[in-house]
Amino acid sequence: MSSPSRRFFLKSTVATGATLTATASVAPKTASASANETLVVGVMGVNGRGSSLARGFAQQDNCEVSAVCDVDSRAIAKGQAAVEGLQKRVPNAFSDIRKMLEDESLDILVVAAPNHWHAPATILGCNHNKHVYVEKPCSHTPWEGEMAVKASRHHNRVVTMGSQRRSREILQEGIQRIHDGEIGDVLYSRCWYSNRRGSIGKGKNVELPEWLDYELWQGPCTEQPFKDNLVHYNWHWHWHWGNGELGNNGVHALDVARWGMQVDYPTRVVSGGGRYRFDDDQETADTHLVSFEFGDRMMMWEGLSWSPHGLYESGFGVTFHGTNGMLHMFDTGFRIYDMQRKVVDEVTGSGGDSEHFNDFLGCIREGGRPTADIEEGHKSTLLCHLGNIAQQTGRSLDTDPTNGHILDDAEASKLWTKDYREGWTPTIS
Ligand SMILES: NC(=O)c1ccc[n+]([C@@H]2O[C@H](COP(=O)([O-])OP(=O)(O)OC[C@H]3O[C@@H](n4cnc5c(N)ncnc54)[C@H](O)[C@@H]3O)[C@@H](O)[C@H]2O)c1
Repeated sequence: MSSPSRRFFLKSTVATGATLTATASVAPKTASASANETLVVGVMGVNGRGSSLARGFAQQDNCEVSAVCDVDSRAIAKGQAAVEGLQKRVPNAFSDIRKMLEDESLDILVVAAPNHWHAPATILGCNHNKHVYVEKPCSHTPWEGEMAVKASRHHNRVVTMGSQRRSREILQEGIQRIHDGEIGDVLYSRCWYSNRRGSIGKGKNVELPEWLDYELWQGPCTEQPFKDNLVHYNWHWHWHWGNGELGNNGVHALDVARWGMQVDYPTRVVSGGGRYRFDDDQETADTHLVSFEFGDRMMMWEGLSWSPHGLYESGFGVTFHGTNGMLHMFDTGFRIYDMQRKVVDEVTGSGGDSEHFNDFLGCIREGGRPTADIEEGHKSTLLCHLGNIAQQTGRSLDTDPTNGHILDDAEASKLWTKDYREGWTPTIS
């Protein structure tokens, strides 16, 4: 732990990039509401995750969902139904987020639309003085992630990412025990996600369905023809809108790994794998191994989008390998092993997202940075982007450990950002 290079990469000592000046440890005074004042929430994208978030926020004390926004007219009803019985008010319906954000009574924007909307909507929300709960990954490209951090700092808004494990007490206890040195110096972390997903088939260009405003669904993205196998969910597997399994579930796992190892930006990223299982429209890897070096230690991610068999007979997990032992973290707890592979302790608790909502609401009321502050969210999301860029270019990447920027590779650096539809480039105002 005491080597100079190790100290260099520790969160407590590392300097963030020139564009991201504040560090997560300095808490701003952002309090804008007292404990008894009702915080008013608007949710963008309520087909699946957004409806559970609407329900989750409506369940918190002094919190009300006043608006739901979706470009699928059928989804609106789902969002409204999600809060039924939890509050008197039926949320107002919007299809255009820009209209919803004009409502000055709204304190919070929740973003659960597809990934290409995450950072643009976060920036729009901050520009309208809203606090933002943005689903993971917090950006579609590295540049967008940096912009989202800047917008949060510029407008002094609380912005958190939906990496809910950060707020689970049971996982915080496990991470604290790693940081206290219980398994020694952690030189390696391995994390994985495995799931048996089906094929998305080969889509046909069809007439737009009457229930969808595809123009707004695309929003900031350059236009693409509509296909009948894209909306909903399958956009995850297309580079134009999604970030593959790495940006879908890898971001959760890598966020825990980065938290435990106390590392920020990598020095080298290597990717291997491809699309092996189905001959269909998916573009992103369905079998993916990515290694991230942080100077004198590393982490490895394994994603399998077609087989449910992960390590320790589980679909999700993170292991931390220290010089004195190993800690295996799962969704609801952790197990500690000694160097003879013997379990020396096991602690289990509960999962769920409620603690994460409370952490975010607490920061809005009392000030401070959330457990999954946007800057931490950006660093974890950036690992996914770098892994995907390495995969797309077929080359390993050397990166700047102060900000994660790609070094000496002009072609890979082009993927740091993307083209936007005219008039839609995210801007902080
Ligand atoms: N934290 C978690 O555990 C967790 C779990 C599931 C999903 N997610 C994240 O939540 C997001 C949504 O996931 P999902 O599975 O519900 O996806 P989905 O594709 O099923 O739903 C997205 C919804 O957003 C709507 N939408 C698209 N453009 C919009 C716009 N301009 N304005 C308003 N609504 C718009 C779509 O019509 C759709 O209803 C994803 O980014 C995903 O990564 C996080």
